[in-house]
Amino acid sequence: MEIAVYGAGYVGLVSALCFANFGHNVIVYDVNAEKINHLKEGRLTIVEKDLDLLLQNAIKLKSVTFTNNSKEAASFANMYLICVGTPSNYNGSADLSFLYSAVENIALHINEPFSLIIKSTVPVGTCYLMEQYIQKIFLNRGVQIPFDIISCPEFLAQGEAVYDFIHPERIIIGTDNDLAFEKVKALYDPLLRLQMDKGISVIRMSPRAAELVKYASNLFLATKISFMNEISRIAEIMEVDITEMLPGFIADKRIGPAMSHPGCGFGGSCFPKDLKSMINQASALGYHPALLEAVQEVNIQQKTYFIGKIFEFFNQQLKNKVIAIWGMSFKPNTDDMRESVSCNLIEALLNAGAIVQAYDPMANYNARQKFHHHSNFKVCDSKEKTLDKADLLAVMTGWSEFLNLDIAVIKGAMQQPVIFDGRNIYKSHDLISQGISYFSIGTGINSLERRLQN
Ligand code: UGA
Repeated sequence: MEIAVYGAGYVGLVSALCFANFGHNVIVYDVNAEKINHLKEGRLTIVEKDLDLLLQNAIKLKSVTFTNNSKEAASFANMYLICVGTPSNYNGSADLSFLYSAVENIALHINEPFSLIIKSTVPVGTCYLMEQYIQKIFLNRGVQIPFDIISCPEFLAQGEAVYDFIHPERIIIGTDNDLAFEKVKALYDPLLRLQMDKGISVIRMSPRAAELVKYASNLFLATKISFMNEISRIAEIMEVDITEMLPGFIADKRIGPAMSHPGCGFGGSCFPKDLKSMINQASALGYHPALLEAVQEVNIQQKTYFIGKIFEFFNQQLKNKVIAIWGMSFKPNTDDMRESVSCNLIEALLNAGAIVQAYDPMANYNARQKFHHHSNFKVCDSKEKTLDKADLLAVMTGWSEFLNLDIAVIKGAMQQPVIFDGRNIYKSHDLISQGISYFSIGTGINSLERRLQN
């Protein structure tokens, strides 16, 4: 099949390159000419496990091309996959300008029947809005061209996006039209055949239901994390170590281990944005989404709480304190720093006059771009280098290379061995018994120490 993918972000590129490796002919369109030039030269513009292999293979197979010419993209195929970003507006609503622009490009150039498949996360009712918009453009052009709009949301997690694409738990096809359903199913046919033994569910529903299922899924996961973060705060004041309690909690199959790890707050380009958007959508319809607001509030509080603890440790006097930071991406296996708690911490530290020495296995480049104007911000090329004369180490991302801690190196390099662990990757008693001042999320250690001192 011939398909045109609009948007070379991580959903667009992963979908495009997976489909190109399944034997479809794919063109990827993006407004960003620099991105497209990189891709034409066989260089990826995002960091995503196994994606380079797919890119090189698709180039070899000649099953993928890249363009920033909208006319070329529109005339390449009559099946369009819309994967453009839908960032937050100032009021929390989703900014659909990239979507409108992509749809307009297609509607202005197309002359034959087509299918528009929306993969971007969009507010409920967007497929209908786009249908109206295309009809308006056709009216202006004086043409009548049949088309279908299908909602087909993606459930890829960054860092595992290729795996998630090839091993989907479900494929949602939101359409009221039988033929459109069959067309989208045919697009996935190679994948369904490849994974035949897995019995992947292809679930058909209305476009509105498909738009909502994407939000509901992300918001449920965000709720689970905020719930755990709230329990971690309760555990701490009750002097219970949450890491001791956790195995007993997640052993219940109805609860399970996924998204059950308390930390210094969730980030990324999806959960915070989708929460804001759904709160905005529900409120616009006169419903007050109290739980979603609480999920958002708990997440903000969790970030503030963790950062506040660091400030409390220095009695709010951070000037010239040297802070080592391990991890700046919003989670491991990505270089993405969007809504990362590290960014909040780094900004707060720099504003307070501290000196930041930070390291991330993948996000160092992005960090330099983001904080290059701060003379007190230094990016280090190894985790050890951040420790030089540091007064405190904050572990912000649970990268596997941070799991093994060399206590001798910590003690030898730091002014004082103090670790604030925002991802609970160490065992508190192990560290405390080796003379490290250790704070983690919901382990009760802080209040316990306080109690013993009193
Ligand atoms: C999320 C969803 O997991 C995907 O299913 C969805 O397709 C994607 O959004 C999207 O809408 O495109 P992603 O944002 O890549 O994926 O990252 P997650 O792995 O879900 O992690 C989100 C945040 O939650 C991270 O900051 C992570 O550190 C935090 N987290 C995760 C916790 O604090 N505790 C956990 O137990 C798990």
